[in-house]
Amino acid sequence: MEENKKNGSCKGDTAIVVRGYTSADNREVQRIFREGMMEMVFDTAFRGLMHHPESQLIYAALTVAVYASTGSLWLACGVMPLVLMARCYYSKKAVDGYLKNAWDMQDIAQHYLESPDRHLWLAEIRGSVVGTVSAHCLQDGTVELQRMSVDHRFRRHRVGAALGQKVVEFARLRSQVSSTGALSVILGTTAYNAAPHRLYLSLGFRCVGVTEGYSTPGTDQSLLEQAFYRVRHHHYRLDLQ
Ligand SMILES: CC(C)(COP(=O)(O)OP(=O)(O)OC[C@H]1O[C@@H](n2cnc3c(N)ncnc32)[C@H](O)[C@@H]1OP(=O)(O)O)[C@@H](O)C(=O)NCCC(=O)NCCS
Repeated sequence: MEENKKNGSCKGDTAIVVRGYTSADNREVQRIFREGMMEMVFDTAFRGLMHHPESQLIYAALTVAVYASTGSLWLACGVMPLVLMARCYYSKKAVDGYLKNAWDMQDIAQHYLESPDRHLWLAEIRGSVVGTVSAHCLQDGTVELQRMSVDHRFRRHRVGAALGQKVVEFARLRSQVSSTGALSVILGTTAYNAAPHRLYLSLGFRCVGVTEGYSTPGTDQSLLEQAFYRVRHHHYRLDLQ
């Protein structure tokens, strides 16, 4: 049931073709997905810190406590670099856990090619795979957009937009044939980087909620993890009617 419909769009002379996944694409799709998710490590550890004043307060208190208990300015100055290292470590751990939990990506062919309710598409430019996205139909007919990632060398070429539009188009078709009707497309992101947020807004999604202290699949929420890995989950929705 390997879908191979092709959709073309272009910006300048860069023609983008969006088509269904085939087993031959596995390696490139896995690479692009993995690299995109790995970007979350620094995004969460560094950019994320600027968005969480409560974490900044804890780290400031820790610095003061070290200074008060040791009287050493050098030791106190060492707290922040250690904190940033710990944030990188726990962000990396969370991304590793997330990737392990992304069981659909472990056998893409089995998960996406054997059911009409799940699809994974990829974008190509001049024959090279440059991006990927998937769609899952939920029980209420809502379609969930997942696994959006674009090769960093091909960013800002409207690849993400073409992939997002493909998911919306899929949901529209589903809503026409299904009795439950796919009335909306939903997605969630923990990114602090503006790119995914702007992309989804540009596709017509709106942010319908934010979960503070979100528990990423694959994390264990230990005390240390909560201290060094704290993320906000943005929920986006696009209503089709
Ligand atoms: C988010 C991501 C998929 C965007 O892909 P892309 O192909 O570069 O995006 P597009 O070129 O289609 O951009 C479409 C619109 O999104 C917005 N956008 C995309 N990247 C942006 C950026 N870096 N800064 C600001 N706006 C951005 C713009 O509005 C853009 O329209 P414009 O180019 O006409 O201004 C890509 O940056 C990526 O793979 N990031 C890493 C993985 C990730 O974060 N995935 C999302 C997880 S939820």
